Amino acid sequence: TVRVLTGITTTGTPHLGNYAGAIRPAIAASRDPGVESFFFLADYHALIKADDPQRVARSRLEIAATWLACGLDPQRVTFYRQSDIVEIPQLTWLLTCVAAKGLLNRAHAYKAAVDKNLASGEDPDYGVTAGLYMYPVLMAADILAFGAHKVPVGRDQIQHIEMARDIGQRFNHLYGDPWRQATGNGGEPLVLPEVQIDENVATLPGLDGRKMSKSYDNTIPLFAPPAELKKLVMSIVTDSRAPGEPKDTEGSTLFQLYQAFATPPQTEEMRHAFAEGIGWGDAKQRLFVLVDETVAPMREQYAQLIDRPAQLEEILLEGARKARDVTVPLLDGLQRAVGLGRFS
Ligand code: TYM
Repeated sequence: TVRVLTGITTTGTPHLGNYAGAIRPAIAASRDPGVESFFFLADYHALIKADDPQRVARSRLEIAATWLACGLDPQRVTFYRQSDIVEIPQLTWLLTCVAAKGLLNRAHAYKAAVDKNLASGEDPDYGVTAGLYMYPVLMAADILAFGAHKVPVGRDQIQHIEMARDIGQRFNHLYGDPWRQATGNGGEPLVLPEVQIDENVATLPGLDGRKMSKSYDNTIPLFAPPAELKKLVMSIVTDSRAPGEPKDTEGSTLFQLYQAFATPPQTEEMRHAFAEGIGWGDAKQRLFVLVDETVAPMREQYAQLIDRPAQLEEILLEGARKARDVTVPLLDGLQRAVGLGRFS
């Protein structure tokens, strides 16, 4: 069986980009009987900017309820919180000690923070926590602790998966022999993961045309009530072409969002409408109807689940128990490989 693993950081409310880029493809893949799936709430990742605790707490509940409302079956999928798996921070340290600092210097998120500081004449590391810097190592531990073969994510995460491979490979190189000796196993201690990008899902743009992202404050929440959803869709930035003038689908935020939710024939119809000069107001109305229809049944489920934290807690604790059936023995072998086994 193939092990598939993915997570969402618990900052903020899940948005259309998370759904189309991660949740929908991951749940679809989890229905394949040849696949063993591990989906989790990346709640340690939520701390890297020392975010507001109440916001983190609320977001964990929201993201848990969202996965379930979108059809995750906890019988079939191992569904857990990162912070319930103590082997993840343990492995993070083992990996920290083999990860090259130069590799982390090149991480996009860290570099973006530094560039922003430099642009405004600040000290390069102003406001940058060691947590932001170490983020790729924690993420490598998330993946490597489960021996995941495939990691379905949006394009923005590709570099992180490549770093997980790099760090894992270095660990295997340094500790492969001691691990084989200590455990009597063949093969390599860590499985090197492959990134899985759904070719049909580009990075979804947000209201302003940049990548839809919690950090840009340009998101459309997946389960916004219909009136809010409509208002947000109507606020999507478009060009100034009048009704009757042909519109470009290329580079159009509206078109890309439509395509992410439409069937291929619906997409072709919209492409045609763009060429025929559909007015932006009409096009937005069509997008609103399409998204609203798609999310309505899930939104109902979500509303029920979010009011049942005890039920969510039970599901996640059961998930953590199953998850640790994998991580406890794996970490035991790794600890022995690096020289931290028991004396006798
Ligand atoms: P996060 O929380 O930023 O995003 C969760 C998932 O949603 C995808 N995504 C998008 N896809 C398409 N269009 C968008 N606008 C968009 N915005 C977000 C992301 O690519 C991601 O797949 N570091 C990760 C969480 C994480 C993780 C992991 C993922 C922690 N450990 C281990 C996989 C494996 C993150 O911050 O994703």
